[in-house]
Amino acid sequence: MLNYLLLFCLFGASVCQQKRPNIVLVLTDDQDVVLGGMTPMANVRRFIGNEGVTFANSYVTSPICCPSRASLLTGLYVHNHMTVNNSMRGGCYGHYWRNTLQKETFNYLLKEAGYKTFYAGKYLNEYGAVEAGGPEAVPPGWSEWRGLVGNSVYYNYTISNNGVPTASTDQYLTDVIRDLSVTFIESQTEDTPFLMVLAPPAPHQPFTPAPRHTGSYRNVTAERGPNFNVKAEDKHWLLRMPPSPLPDTMLPELDRVYRSRWESLLAVDEIVADVVAALDKQNVLADTYVLFTSDNGYHVGQFSQVYDKRQPYESDIKVPLVIRGPGIAPNSSSAEPVLNIDIAPTILKMAGLTPPAHMDGRPIDLNGNGKSDRYMLVEYHGEGRYGSVDDACPWKNDASRLAECYPQYECKCQDARNNSYACVRHFDTRTNMKYCEFADYENFVEIYDLSRDSFELHNALDRTLPAVRAWYSRALSRLLQCVGDTCALQVSMSQT
Ligand SMILES: *[C@@H]1O[C@H](CO)[C@@H](O)[C@H](O)[C@H]1NC(C)=O
Ligand SMILES: *[C@@H]1O[C@H](CO)[C@@H](O)[C@H](O)[C@H]1NC(C)=O
Ligand SMILES: *[C@@H]1O[C@H](CO)[C@@H](O)[C@H](O)[C@H]1NC(C)=O
Ligand SMILES: *[C@@H]1O[C@H](CO)[C@@H](O)[C@H](O)[C@H]1NC(C)=O
Repeated sequence: MLNYLLLFCLFGASVCQQKRPNIVLVLTDDQDVVLGGMTPMANVRRFIGNEGVTFANSYVTSPICCPSRASLLTGLYVHNHMTVNNSMRGGCYGHYWRNTLQKETFNYLLKEAGYKTFYAGKYLNEYGAVEAGGPEAVPPGWSEWRGLVGNSVYYNYTISNNGVPTASTDQYLTDVIRDLSVTFIESQTEDTPFLMVLAPPAPHQPFTPAPRHTGSYRNVTAERGPNFNVKAEDKHWLLRMPPSPLPDTMLPELDRVYRSRWESLLAVDEIVADVVAALDKQNVLADTYVLFTSDNGYHVGQFSQVYDKRQPYESDIKVPLVIRGPGIAPNSSSAEPVLNIDIAPTILKMAGLTPPAHMDGRPIDLNGNGKSDRYMLVEYHGEGRYGSVDDACPWKNDASRLAECYPQYECKCQDARNNSYACVRHFDTRTNMKYCEFADYENFVEIYDLSRDSFELHNALDRTLPAVRAWYSRALSRLLQCVGDTCALQVSMSQT
């Protein structure tokens, strides 16, 4: 049937143009691009990058899973989807999501337009929670649903198979996602276009590689770039907390994490090869867009931090983005500044649909001719849980609601309630800037001129003209209130 349609296509171009493409999105969990996170992805380079376009300036709206995934699915900034953290009280798979936003996702709109839609893997961290209907609840807009209950893990999990909870102890989750995906592609015998979202757990902690990949990078150590384990003297208070730098005795643990992340990604790289092969076997590869990206970046040792995301630095907010598909030039690259809120409108456009005006993102130019100037917003709401500071740590009674402070990491804390901030990431022909305001007791500000200081070693606050600083502050407050079109700030610096 598919062969017949493709042949038919050769003789009637108008029929071809009406044929809607398939779309496959692979979304990893916590994969950086700045620290070499794409090094293990040989198949992504070969089967997507060499056949399509690689984006050099791809960012997320928030460096944490649930808010970032909500942005990707809806095309909305955090202040508009109101998923502020990974818990249900913070909107993660909460009431507003379940009652309203789920019907504004790109997959819902594609399904309404006749697409078959398939999801496998981690969705939103609170999916499957009992108070939200448990794993029996299937989010609307998916015709085949294989959602993981809860947060990323590699073994011992439950998948909702179209609402039927299925527990597994010893099946490596990434491989299960691969098998479900290949089976889905092989079962497509009609001419209905399909959308697939594959969301494997890697390289999220506990960074467990597939057994066949354990030791593949045994000699690799964490990247010792210029900002690795340097004292954070001019950064916000959480970064200045001791120990800074980390003691040498902790570095082997950072190396272990770094190499385990790479090893866990090798199974994801195999998904890409197997999915592309399955599409090819079905004779639909030429009609299929394949996108590869991550929900947020990650740091391992930068500025004397341990390992995590949640910070405004490039390691945490910058992500890989590679796309192949009909009409995209092979081996091309794009410097267009793009955000994860652009993915939903881009996918809608690929499917021939008009993105709704309320979406904050805009379709990405797949031919590398996108605009080079943009003001992009990053929003983060610090997470703090009472009682999450280990009793053995000196700041166990601190009132700032510090979080994730463990003695095995010398009590270096990863987050705090007032590690809340918003940044403007500004690109222009000759501009590459970051301006961040922290909601802490110091009203701290960090400014980086990435055109000169790509490792963000020097907070340029003291060297920034007050007028420029005030200008960025105004741009930030406008972005924090933007909706739809107004998120594309048009004012240029010279107009002030
Ligand atoms: C893309 O680049 C790779 C590596 O340089 C090369 O092997 C491949 O032939 C190129 N592909 C196309 C379609 O030009
Ligand atoms: C998440 O956000 C909600 C709403 O602001 C808040 O009540 C909750 O304490 C936050 N959770 C954490 C862990 O900070
Ligand atoms: C899975 O859970 C079982 C039972 O709790 C446990 O024995 C096993 O070690 C776990 N497997 C992994 C890989 O964590
Ligand atoms: C790691 O290094 C050792 C000693 O230099 C070498 O013998 C071994 O082949 C290397 N292993 C890998 C996986 O590269």
